[in-house]
Amino acid sequence: MKNIIIFGAPGSGKGTYSDEIVARYGMGHISTGDVLRGEIKQGSELGKIAKGYIDNGQLIPDELMISILAKTYDEMPAGKGVIFDGFPRTIAQAEALKQMLAERKHDMGVMIELIVDEETLMARLLNRAIEQGRADDNEETIKKRFAVYHSQTEPLAAWFEKEGMRHTFTWGGSKEAMLGEIFAFLDAENK
Ligand code: AP5
Ligand code: MG
Repeated sequence: MKNIIIFGAPGSGKGTYSDEIVARYGMGHISTGDVLRGEIKQGSELGKIAKGYIDNGQLIPDELMISILAKTYDEMPAGKGVIFDGFPRTIAQAEALKQMLAERKHDMGVMIELIVDEETLMARLLNRAIEQGRADDNEETIKKRFAVYHSQTEPLAAWFEKEGMRHTFTWGGSKEAMLGEIFAFLDAENK
């Protein structure tokens, strides 16, 4: 299985679709958000640093994030492919990922971009706030996360376009339909 970078705004479904892709293709999954929330839960030094940024809707500094990503990647089972969920989020992170994979003679694979309107994103995240109580799922922090996404992460889509990796899927109101399109694309890519 090729590596996959799943890309999109907060609440666009990166985690949800990653779980479905893992269930179908049996690959590895790295969610940098989950890694950081795990560190916070453990009360580690890294968790203490990360908490300040996450609670404020800001990105963890690139250098720190890149070193965590490399360590996590090297702990994944070899040869099955990995879904990167929430990484890269800046051009510097994308360049670092490209270099890290090249050093290991692994391919970058494909990028799946999820496009969802902001009203739907907000409704999903406020609903998750009730169901799961994630600390950064409150209206004020969600708005900051959207702003950070637009200013720092969205410009990366053009970077992936240049790499010939960008494949866009647009929310049309049905999870099954969107998932079907993603699976059809991945089946064809991995034939
Ligand atoms: P992260 O955990 O990655 O959060 P995010 O990007 O804001 O995205 P979410 O996890 O909120 O949404 P998602 O796209 O996974 O959607 P989901 O499937 O859950 O990052 C959190 C923070 O960590 C960042 O703000 C930053 O501080 C830090 N961080 C992480 N990575 C970093 C990096 N690389 N560099 C620097 N800092 C980093 O879906 C959302 C909800 O919608 C769910 O409840 C789901 O059930 C529901 N839902 C309802 N209908 C649908 C549907 N049809 N499709 C999908 N989901 C649906
Ligand atoms: Mg997520």
